[in-house]
Amino acid sequence: MARSATLARADGSPGRDLLTLSGVSVAFGGIKALTAVSLAVAENRVTAVIGPNGAGKTSLFNVISGFYPADEGSVTFAGQDLLRCPAHRRSALGISRTFQNIALFPGMTVEENIKLGAHSQMRTGLFAAALYLGPARREEKAITQRIDQDILSLLDLREYRDRSVSGLPYGVQKRIELARALVSGPKLLMLDEPFAGMPAPEKAKMASYIRRIVGETDVTALLIDHDMESIMSMSDHIVVLNFGRVIAAGRPAEVQNDPAVVEAYLGGE
Ligand SMILES: Nc1ncnc2c1ncn2[C@@H]1O[C@H](COP(=O)(O)OP(=O)(O)OP(=O)(O)O)[C@@H](O)[C@H]1O
Ligand SMILES: [Mg+2]
Repeated sequence: MARSATLARADGSPGRDLLTLSGVSVAFGGIKALTAVSLAVAENRVTAVIGPNGAGKTSLFNVISGFYPADEGSVTFAGQDLLRCPAHRRSALGISRTFQNIALFPGMTVEENIKLGAHSQMRTGLFAAALYLGPARREEKAITQRIDQDILSLLDLREYRDRSVSGLPYGVQKRIELARALVSGPKLLMLDEPFAGMPAPEKAKMASYIRRIVGETDVTALLIDHDMESIMSMSDHIVVLNFGRVIAAGRPAEVQNDPAVVEAYLGGE
């Protein structure tokens, strides 16, 4: 099938841990955003981080992306010490993320918006890209091919390829963001509140696209969301944070009935 040509396929094996955090702490002045957080993200699986407001979920993403430095602890990604790698190099290592709010260019086409996701990744650099020198041209061709052969059909976006983003339904725009995050060929896809602002049927659709990405390509998903129903139904593994600490972790059924989790949610809302 064409899709496997440029996106590596998942082989379905349980796999190793792609990302591990060990004893990670982050503080801002007196505020401890994360305290001794340890967790593992299994390769080719969906891991979700949940927790009440202010629990430290976004801080966790920011440490992994390199936006926040960790005061203590270690983060290992694909066998490498991530904290020694500068933030701007982490996407080249295979880490990609989406943000909570839609950040597309409305006047540009769907394909153009998706292509923007490749820029942090281009090896030839902006100078060569601007002059459109040979290597830049070859790289651009490979990116266009990946979009055309794999990503558009994976996310059912083919019919929108040449349409301007403005006016497309919200659910389609969220899928374009997903597509853009996939263009760099990441191993780890971090999704910040992918279900935010969606009615229930759209949430179910988004969940199935995320599962499809993880099931059909060699991508591991790590997501944050408040929507318990979506998280419970689609995740392989759930980590629960409260006041910057991991209070529970396990399969959905395990964490759902954990007294500490019930208490955190009832006490925190
Ligand atoms: N850049 C920052 N400067 C100061 N304090 C911060 C900063 N980032 C996070 N914090 C604090 O760290 C704690 C955890 O915040 P974080 O945004 O990680 O929580 P969250 O779980 O993402 O919450 P929400 O569900 O509301 O998005 C909060 O007390 C927050 O105020
Ligand atoms: Mg947050």
